[in-house]
Amino acid sequence: ERIKSFQTDILAWYDRHKRDLPWRQTKDPYKIWVSEIMLQQTQVATVIPYYERFIERLPDVKSLAEVSEEELLKLWEGLGYYSRVRNMQAAAQQIIEEWGGVFPDNRKDLEKLKGIGPYTGGAVASIAFGEQTPAVDGNVMRVFSRLFKIEDDLSKAKTKTLFEKLLSQIVPADRPGDFNQAIMDLGATKSMPKVYDPVDNPLPDYDASYQSDTWQEYPVKKGK
Ligand code: ADE
Repeated sequence: ERIKSFQTDILAWYDRHKRDLPWRQTKDPYKIWVSEIMLQQTQVATVIPYYERFIERLPDVKSLAEVSEEELLKLWEGLGYYSRVRNMQAAAQQIIEEWGGVFPDNRKDLEKLKGIGPYTGGAVASIAFGEQTPAVDGNVMRVFSRLFKIEDDLSKAKTKTLFEKLLSQIVPADRPGDFNQAIMDLGATKSMPKVYDPVDNPLPDYDASYQSDTWQEYPVKKGK
């Protein structure tokens, strides 16, 4: 039915138009985790060289757990939000001590690690382990609020829970990681904050706000 064809069309679009990014060449949860943490507050183009250098110097959990703080901060210099990388090292040490060095392979356990919340847990679980679970951030909420004319206020915390529930119904059992990354690519290249690009966009057929020419009214952010 409708959800099925939506999934099929988005994945077909992703296969044709996905961005060629270094962390998409791997299923290694460590590398995917590093990329997702870097991408949280930093643009893709900025992240790429940092990611390459970081992975070359610290290729696995053990090397991250053991590296000196000085060298670690040097690798992160310029990315900002240093608590991100401090939390990553703490999580790497947790993996060594509590998980015997084996990366937790599901969202619930991933979220027990320092610095991994619902977004990162969902992203790593779906991309690296094929878990059928969403990865909801601001971009994903923008894309979906436009698609379905969702009026809920993004500045309210409970709205995120609502999107998590909605997306849980839509993420496909096969290729959940590709589906989540397809939504990220749509948010970055087609349904952007101030621009909506209908060319080669798989969404227009489904996109309620585009069809009524009201996409600019979404997402709703009223503030407090
Ligand atoms: N932004 C956050 N995660 C991403 C990913 N895996 N690919 C592209 N952009 C992203």
